[in-house]
Amino acid sequence: MNTDVPQQNAPLEASAASQEVLSFLANRRSTLVKLMQAPGPDAQQLDMILRVAARVPDHRKLTPWRFLLFQDQARADFGVHLAEKFSEDCPNADTERVQFERDRFLRAPLVIGIVSSPKACPRGTPKWEQELSAGAVCMNMLLGARASGFAAQWLTEWYAFDPRIETVLGLGESERMAGFLYIGSCDAPLSERPRPDLSDLVAPWLYEKT
Ligand SMILES: Cc1cc2nc3c(=O)[nH]c(=O)nc-3n(C[C@H](O)[C@H](O)[C@H](O)COP(=O)(O)O)c2cc1C
Repeated sequence: MNTDVPQQNAPLEASAASQEVLSFLANRRSTLVKLMQAPGPDAQQLDMILRVAARVPDHRKLTPWRFLLFQDQARADFGVHLAEKFSEDCPNADTERVQFERDRFLRAPLVIGIVSSPKACPRGTPKWEQELSAGAVCMNMLLGARASGFAAQWLTEWYAFDPRIETVLGLGESERMAGFLYIGSCDAPLSERPRPDLSDLVAPWLYEKT
């Protein structure tokens, strides 16, 4: 297995067929954050997860995303803001509920915020494509975390869309959160959830003249 960073223009494998990768993808599942515990990735594992995440299709190499890491005390510090904004909106909430907000990022040893950061592109890469690339980053990160042996879940919850929290996160005008990847460990076995019936979703294209 080669996990080195390839040099620019280095030859890459032309055929990367792998039953192991197919099986991994066909059986992949998220882990509910409430089942997560320590440990999270060490520095080397985190570096690999971020590299895998950043290795996504990106039209015109605009890198329209960036990462915010929440580890150790930063998780609790961010929770203070969550609890504060939540209490503004729900002044009658009981203390347990507010504490839940304060502890949100403590549910996992590592939380990574993926910021969609579209760039003005004179050559015309649409914002939509750039946002899709940010979604691909989230998915690759989920896969990279799982393949590194960790439990992971992609969440947005209310704070991904709250303008006050966007300020706390330091988002620029065109930026928004693509999601938060919670990463930790989990011993509990995963069970399958319903999956779409492909026959409902796949059809040959038919052009109907009006
Ligand atoms: C953009 C995005 C945001 C999501 N946000 C939430 C969320 O806020 N709360 C939640 O319970 N699940 C959320 N999910 C769903 C979970 O990440 C995940 O799909 C689900 O737990 C099981 O999916 P899986 O086992 O196929 O990975 C979100 C999914 C996506 C793609």
